[in-house]
Amino acid sequence: MKIAVVGTGYVGLVTGVSLSEIGHNVTCIDIDLAKVNKMKKGVSPIYEPGLSELMLSNIEQKRLFFTTDHKEAFKDTEVIYIAVGTPENANGSANLKYVEQVAIDIASNVYRDTVVVTKSTVPVGTNHNIQRIIEKNLINKVKVDVISNPEFLKEGSAIYDSFNGDRIVIGSENDEAADKLEEINKPFGVPVYRTDIKSAEMIKYASNAFLATKISFINEISNICELLGANVEEVAIGMGLDQRIGNQFLKAGIGYGGSCFPKDTKALIQIAGNVDYDFQLLKGVVNVNRKQQKILLNKLEERIPSLKGKKIAILGLAFKPNTDDMREAASIVISKELIKSGARVIAYDPISMENAKSILDEKVEYASSIEDAIAESDATLILTEWDEIKHIDLDLFKSMEYPLIIDGRNCFDINKMKNSGIEYHSVGRPSVVSTNEKAYV
Ligand code: UGA
Repeated sequence: MKIAVVGTGYVGLVTGVSLSEIGHNVTCIDIDLAKVNKMKKGVSPIYEPGLSELMLSNIEQKRLFFTTDHKEAFKDTEVIYIAVGTPENANGSANLKYVEQVAIDIASNVYRDTVVVTKSTVPVGTNHNIQRIIEKNLINKVKVDVISNPEFLKEGSAIYDSFNGDRIVIGSENDEAADKLEEINKPFGVPVYRTDIKSAEMIKYASNAFLATKISFINEISNICELLGANVEEVAIGMGLDQRIGNQFLKAGIGYGGSCFPKDTKALIQIAGNVDYDFQLLKGVVNVNRKQQKILLNKLEERIPSLKGKKIAILGLAFKPNTDDMREAASIVISKELIKSGARVIAYDPISMENAKSILDEKVEYASSIEDAIAESDATLILTEWDEIKHIDLDLFKSMEYPLIIDGRNCFDINKMKNSGIEYHSVGRPSVVSTNEKAYV
């Protein structure tokens, strides 16, 4: 099938590449010419495991194309995917200007009956609005059917998720169009759930909000565990054994970040508010997350009350491992507060340092290795659980006068840390405190 995908961010590019991998003829459109020229050569604008390889092989097999030209891309196309961003407005609502612009571009450039598939995360009612915008602006007498097909892939495992998803949701009011989309997706072998458009739009927000709720819930439990001397990891395992709860998304840490949960939780609060519903539970989830992002600072200040002039190493900057995405990463808030307290911040991340440089305070310094970052540091904060960080040689800390690690991602086994000579604080687990007389307090 000939398919066009508008937008080459995480969702659009992974969608386009995956659809070409299962045999479709896909043209990806982006307004950024420099980015398109790079992608034509197989260079991925984002770090995503497995993406570059699939891009290159499908370009070579002439199934994957890139352009800035809507007219060229929509020529003879039966199906157009909308996968542009829906960033956050100042009041937390979703900004739909890019989606609406694509609707106008479609209306001005389609010459045959077309199915429009919305992958972008959009508030309930948006797909009906897209349908109206297209119909109002159509320059040719053709039939366009808009379908909601929300995306559930995770950054860092997006390619794997495309081929191993739990479900594909198709929200449509036209069976023929829904059949076509189901047919397109058949080679993925992922179960399809068909519903109406508004429910499909809500499934996306409700899923992300529920996952965010699980994370804020376990983070609150972790804070209580710390006060009572329990271990949140043991608690999460014990809870997760109940199949009604499930063992995923119960990892306590420094809160959720990224381009989805922070934005979509706030947008759902707005969506509810627009129909005069006060979504109190979700407001709590957002507030807990805001506080949780800063808990490492409280732990650090308890151990080193004055941070002025102290050298603090930060290991891991991206919002999660296996991505270079810095959006809503806890490292942004934490490094800003540390600099404000007068600390010297030396950061290391295996992949996201280039992106970080344009986002973090300019006073943040960058090290080329874990070893360089932690050298002569007064404390090390762990913010992202990259494999490289989880497998640090703890002996590197031995030469320090007083080694102190504050781990926001519970990277190390507590029992192992007990024999390491390192003072170790993590999240929701008992601290490993050294008896070294050089301790700060
Ligand atoms: C999330 C959803 O998981 C995807 O299903 C969805 O498609 C995507 O948003 C989206 O809407 O586009 P993503 O943001 O890429 O995916 O990453 P996640 O793996 O969900 O992690 C989000 C954040 O939650 C990370 O900061 C991660 O560290 C944190 N997290 C996750 C926890 O703190 N604890 C957990 O147990 C799980």
